[in-house]
Amino acid sequence: MSPSRLVIVSYLLLLGVVAVKAEKASEWYDAGDFLKLNFPMGQTVSFLAWSLLDFPTAYADAGTATPALNNIKLAATYLMKCHIGEYQYVGQIGNPGTDHSYWGRPEQQTGTRPAYTYTKETTASDLLGSVSAALTSSSLVLAGSDAALSKEMLTHATALYAWGKAYPGLYNAAYSSATYVYWSSRYVDKLMYAAAWLFRATGDAAYATDAYAFWQSAGSGDIYTGWDSTFAPAINLLLKLASEGKTVPGKAAYEKWIVSSFLSAWQTADGNWSIIKTPKGLTYPSWSKWGNLRYSNNAAFMTIMRASYSSVNKATNIAWAKSQLDYALSTTGRSFVCGVGTGFPLQPHHRSASCPNMPAACGWDQFYSAASSPQTLTGALVGGPPNGDGTYVDLRSDYISNEVAVDYNAGFTGALAGYIALA
Ligand SMILES: *[C@@H]1O[C@H](CO)[C@@H](O)[C@H](O)[C@H]1NC(C)=O
Repeated sequence: MSPSRLVIVSYLLLLGVVAVKAEKASEWYDAGDFLKLNFPMGQTVSFLAWSLLDFPTAYADAGTATPALNNIKLAATYLMKCHIGEYQYVGQIGNPGTDHSYWGRPEQQTGTRPAYTYTKETTASDLLGSVSAALTSSSLVLAGSDAALSKEMLTHATALYAWGKAYPGLYNAAYSSATYVYWSSRYVDKLMYAAAWLFRATGDAAYATDAYAFWQSAGSGDIYTGWDSTFAPAINLLLKLASEGKTVPGKAAYEKWIVSSFLSAWQTADGNWSIIKTPKGLTYPSWSKWGNLRYSNNAAFMTIMRASYSSVNKATNIAWAKSQLDYALSTTGRSFVCGVGTGFPLQPHHRSASCPNMPAACGWDQFYSAASSPQTLTGALVGGPPNGDGTYVDLRSDYISNEVAVDYNAGFTGALAGYIALA
């Protein structure tokens, strides 16, 4: 066997081993399918950890502090275990084409589930930044209950950030035919967000300096908070730390941006930054069709976080967040949250919820069935109206209106927790 062929074979073996190792650890699937996608998962876990960290009373009042902690522990442990070597990170498991062609239960899925591993030869600053932020925030959440795991997470978070910073580039540049489902626009915001969390966890001023350097290199941020934009989260976090007396370079620039760009665009909703408002009050980017409730509730999480440390327009910020939560729960006469409120979704685009109890078979017949899904995904937020009030359809095949996703729920949960804690 020639050396180059040997390298290829060991690489394939490595991929196989990696797939098995990473699959063994439990983790959340992304949405209605069975992909494990660490890039959006990083932002998702960081939002949940942040809300538990800063709004603990809300979780305690709702009796959900322990399940929330356990969920963060599970998801963050997976994100950490995917760091399988100094410069080796498993960023995704499952190929979208293969995965989407299967409808049924996850435990009955057959066929290959490839692992996509990043190395120094494949840039991934956005992926590594988002995962680093998730691990740092989770490390803070777990500090009181599992000091060893908390420390281990921070060590990985530090290393992944340093790697992402040293080898700048987008994660979609590699494996584009598998990673296209979450296309990343840029990486400076994810590194900035990771640096902000490391600054909070370690107090090391170098991270605050890094964050500001990323901000300056970005030129201007964007306000569409979510897996592809973490400018507002980074800035909110840094301003919160500043309000606690920490020295934050760029504080004045951040303050100006959050007031005159972020809050102004979302709350005025006059089309600036393409932010529009429906007659019944859903506020979302006009270019978006998918997951509009996710965008509106991510913004609500940000405004409620703002209200947690700034008295400027505090009541307005809380009321605006509430208006978006209300839209998801009741304003239009129906709920967009499975199992909650009146007229909630009965046919979410979600494979296992569509399956009857075992041992009955589950497959494409369940996808095409006109019946309600037999399993209720209590608490899951669907995408919502794609083009304004009245455009939502409760149809299993409509993945634009009616899919559920972990990233849809993270900001929504954070906004709810913030509202309960502050109102
Ligand atoms: C649009 O937003 C930008 C900053 O984000 C701001 O400078 C500008 O004044 C806004 N325009 C209007 C018409 O509000």
